[in-house]
Amino acid sequence: MRRPLVAGNWKMNGTRASVAELIQSLRQQALPEGVEVAVFPSFLHIPQVMAELDGDSIAVGVQDCASQTGFGALTGEVSVSQVAEFGCQWVLVGHSERRLVLGESDELVARKFVAAREAGLKPMLCVGERLEEREAGETLSVVERQLEAVLDLAGIAGFEEAVVAYEPVWAIGSGLTATPEQAQEVHAAIRGRLSREDAEIAAGVRILYGGSVKPENAQELFGMADIDGGLIGGASLKANDFGAICRAAGN
Ligand code: PGA
Repeated sequence: MRRPLVAGNWKMNGTRASVAELIQSLRQQALPEGVEVAVFPSFLHIPQVMAELDGDSIAVGVQDCASQTGFGALTGEVSVSQVAEFGCQWVLVGHSERRLVLGESDELVARKFVAAREAGLKPMLCVGERLEEREAGETLSVVERQLEAVLDLAGIAGFEEAVVAYEPVWAIGSGLTATPEQAQEVHAAIRGRLSREDAEIAAGVRILYGGSVKPENAQELFGMADIDGGLIGGASLKANDFGAICRAAGN
């Protein structure tokens, strides 16, 4: 049985004051026992978030990492070794904003995934197609290509402690959501691809849906067989909405 997971990707948002307020409100939310919850603040806010969560069961992750492990001369990058030292458990890799706006290749994403695993962190691998690709009927081949790059480098064993997030690019921040059936089709294909390598590992991998998830559509999406929770952007900045989404994952 896969434990549902809801993750909040705060992206490039927040000030010290707004983060303090958000954490305080999140701690007042009734979060269901059976659901794992994680937040991904900006690097600068990590120590503050860890301190203000103060032992709360919400886990903390970072939105990116360097593809090199350890320490060294790499101006501006943050290493998985540093992330691990701060007690973060999760690393987002391959978010479409990094792939498309910042030009990260499938291969770089795969190297970040491997670096995260080497440091004992759990990668949350984001995959998803652009609108043109969906319209051209290429959704499954795009997602498979993104997955393949990671399988090539990390092997199926790399997925034992990883999560996949399917985020159609056209649904991110747009207010457009994939229908539960559209999402389920891709989630099943992802699990099917992993299953060709190892059925047992594939059955245990949590596959989250992301892209304009809101309290109003969460329940229906999370009700699908292969949707194990959500990666939430905009709605994760509102404690009440995020709490409601977490509760929907518990139903
Ligand atoms: P959204 O973002 O919920 O604002 O669409 C999701 C994401 O980018 O992870």
